[in-house]
Amino acid sequence: MPKNEKTYITNANFMLHGGDYNPDQWLDRPDILADDIKLMQLSHTNTFSVGIFAWSALEPEEGVYNFEWLDKIFEDIYRIGGRVILATPSGARPAWMSQKYPEVLRVNAARVKQLHGGRHNHCFTSPVYREKTQTINGLLAERYGGHPALLMWHISNEYGGDCHCDLCQNAFREWVKVKYNHDLKAVNDAWWGPFWSHTYSDWSQIESPSPNGESMVHGLNLDWRRFVTDQTIDFFENEIVPLKKITPDVPITTNFMADTFDLIPFQGLDYSKFAKHVDVVSWDAYPAWHNDWESTADLAMKVGFINDLYRSLKQQPFLTMEMTPSAVNWHQVNKAKRPGMHLLSAMQMVAHGSDSVLYFQWRKSRGSSEKFHGAVVDHDNSPENRVFQEVAKVGVTLEKLADVVGTNRPSDVAILYDWDSNWAINDAQGFGLESKRYPQTLQQHYRTFWEKDIPVDVITKDQDFSKYKLLIVPMLYLMSEDTISQLKTYAAEGGTLVMTYISGLVNEHDLTYLGGWHKDLQEIFGIKPVETDTLYPKDRNAVMFRQKSYELKDYATVIEVNGANVEGVYEDDFYANTPALTSHSYGQGKAYYIGGRLEDDFQRDFYQELIDELVLESASDVKHGRGVSVQARHASEKDYLFLMNFTEQSQPVSLGSAVTDALTGEQLTGDLLLEKYEVRIVEKQK
Ligand code: GAL
Repeated sequence: MPKNEKTYITNANFMLHGGDYNPDQWLDRPDILADDIKLMQLSHTNTFSVGIFAWSALEPEEGVYNFEWLDKIFEDIYRIGGRVILATPSGARPAWMSQKYPEVLRVNAARVKQLHGGRHNHCFTSPVYREKTQTINGLLAERYGGHPALLMWHISNEYGGDCHCDLCQNAFREWVKVKYNHDLKAVNDAWWGPFWSHTYSDWSQIESPSPNGESMVHGLNLDWRRFVTDQTIDFFENEIVPLKKITPDVPITTNFMADTFDLIPFQGLDYSKFAKHVDVVSWDAYPAWHNDWESTADLAMKVGFINDLYRSLKQQPFLTMEMTPSAVNWHQVNKAKRPGMHLLSAMQMVAHGSDSVLYFQWRKSRGSSEKFHGAVVDHDNSPENRVFQEVAKVGVTLEKLADVVGTNRPSDVAILYDWDSNWAINDAQGFGLESKRYPQTLQQHYRTFWEKDIPVDVITKDQDFSKYKLLIVPMLYLMSEDTISQLKTYAAEGGTLVMTYISGLVNEHDLTYLGGWHKDLQEIFGIKPVETDTLYPKDRNAVMFRQKSYELKDYATVIEVNGANVEGVYEDDFYANTPALTSHSYGQGKAYYIGGRLEDDFQRDFYQELIDELVLESASDVKHGRGVSVQARHASEKDYLFLMNFTEQSQPVSLGSAVTDALTGEQLTGDLLLEKYEVRIVEKQK
């Protein structure tokens, strides 16, 4: 996307502020529903995701519909100038449906059918469930498709999980047949069938991984996970048929997730595939702020990483579909956001490309499992409490940021994230079972750029590499020939490529490359990794790089050099003084290989050289210490800079050129002090 072009992902030209609203829980309390409308205005909220789990309110009995309550909600929200994100209700279903059509119930990996209850537990193959969702979705589209308050569609909720019923087993078999051109030998070859006598002699023997969802047949595991993604998308596509037909201009999203507690991308579905089917990427961000195992800045860095991944999926702004105004209820410890943290965490989302701050939940429910989950409106029903006030402050701030909507964050640096590879490396029995930590390794590499305010795209393998000056590919264990050839072209045409230990070991079937490292990788890097040594958690080695020693843990690759320059060497063990870090000119570009897992200071110093050499620019000329992050969004005449203090101390910031406070209009120059958790948003003319 060109630097200053705006991309509007919805037809709203304002920042969305609001969130999941469940009036269906309060239909016998018109007084509460009336209060909601007043409180919406007082909280400076404008957008509400309605109907997410409302199926039993919409269709209390099979074929008996009740939309009147929703008509009124639409009208009331529209009357105050608000907008509705209308959800399809498939995330949970009415009891009558489970009772009458047990095929809609999910079967777990041990082949046990689940009882009715909970949510997010439907079979994604069931023809009945597909038909029922299409019917209700069609009725919603017909009734509300033309309503001026309708902003977009929210399909289901947080798709995830898998089903192992007979319908799904059949669907999987069909999927495998199509993938392998109806050639059973090709399946056996790809899955390395003879291992432990897993050769199939008939298609009917193929089943989802067992026992318990995991198999020792890695190719099968990988294909099952791919199937689960495809089948989930297929279910989603089935849901949206009537919406595309009746409301072709209303954008469609479904809320993606991240895995807490380490805050890494969601592992269950390949979002790089899913993103192609939605108009807008949105996600639910629940970092455990103020936890007792990492600093606020460390956690903020991880949030930044996921934001940059989900933004890069479509290379356009995204939506924060859910975050909590205060505490959640499902972490191990559910700590309240400290004063200031709500505004700071909300602005961090916007700074990385979000065009919304939406919450779970608008009003705290009275009963059941989410009655103590943070909400804009608490059980006290009051606009006076701290949380409500902090939400209102976010609202006022967002109202001043309408010009930020649609703006982007161009970047010269990309880090490659891959779901396939992550699944495969997690399966790999070898290395250190606890220490592989693929997503966390990418975050370690991301950290340097985050600390230096250099914008990063976290991209996936199907994207265009050529626009980046620097492409970082840590631990890409699984690489198809296609990916290898893309990397080859990238380097040959002038890109700077950085790769690490445990990369390029297996192909897309999780079968190792024979004959050593792939010959193209050997050619690009001018090396051949010959052994990967895994260290015990307490073991340490070190790497000498530019006369400085950096601590190494977990992994060290023994490298044979065939043309590369040696930039760093191991200090200890049987490979002491052998190459640990190499560089190699290849075509117009350059390829670096980092053989060991090194401390953060190494990444800081190593990447600083590349930052200087490739002239990788920071988002601004603002200078600050560690724990402060400055992120930018670029409008045509000015940049919006978000100056964020993710530490518990006040932090001096030196502004560089003159800027204007985006909220107060105040001119600012020289130095500024950011208080604990403070965020300032400033405009800088181009
Ligand atoms: C999300 C979910 C919401 C709500 C929220 C609580 O994962 O989509 O419905 O349960 O968690 O944090």
